[in-house]
Amino acid sequence: MTSGLQIKDEDCGFNKNLFCVPKHYEDDLERVFIPHGLILDRTERLARDIMQDMGNHPIFALCVLKGGYKFFADLMDHIKALNRNTDQSVPITVDFVKTKSYCNDIPTGTVSIIGEELSAFKGKNVLVVEDIIDTGKTIQTLLSRIKEYEPQMVKVVSLLVKRTIRSSGYKPDYIGFEIPDKFVVGYALDYNEYFRDLNHICILNEKAKEKYKL
Ligand code: HPA
Ligand code: MG
Repeated sequence: MTSGLQIKDEDCGFNKNLFCVPKHYEDDLERVFIPHGLILDRTERLARDIMQDMGNHPIFALCVLKGGYKFFADLMDHIKALNRNTDQSVPITVDFVKTKSYCNDIPTGTVSIIGEELSAFKGKNVLVVEDIIDTGKTIQTLLSRIKEYEPQMVKVVSLLVKRTIRSSGYKPDYIGFEIPDKFVVGYALDYNEYFRDLNHICILNEKAKEKYKL
């Protein structure tokens, strides 16, 4: 396990005017925090690391919706490219589970898991694909549910891990970026369902948090 690409607490990202962002979000963003290109480059390397470790066994990839869908799709594309272009190749099957644990930018303290067919995991090598690990509560709840069905192996990859005092201490097997305790959106991460349609991972301004508040 590595701690991923470290983004320091004092790192505040990039001026949004130096990047292309949708017009409808221009006034809502404070900074571009992780540009889309960097996300894809890091994802390419995660795909290589995962393939090296998971070896010759078929992978049962589980996407944690909704925030994980972009990362999942790009990670699978990179894994598929390795399958096409290297001697090692393993079949991949995919499934989806939906979790919800945030309202506004605050964890609700409850984790709902919706629409799962977790019994299919028995004897499989499961790769859980998450967008972000914050308190760790969502992933730990999900993992204990998956493990009831006796998979052969479970690995977790998360694009982001937040350094926060609210953390349970849980660390995934693979980490894209370790980030400071800031609320981020974009690349399928949302604030009350908005900003999933933004390529870069960005920081919102306070006005936007008010504007889209529930
Ligand atoms: N952004 C979006 N969703 C989240 C975050 C975040 O920073 N942390 C946990 N879920
Ligand atoms: Mg998530």
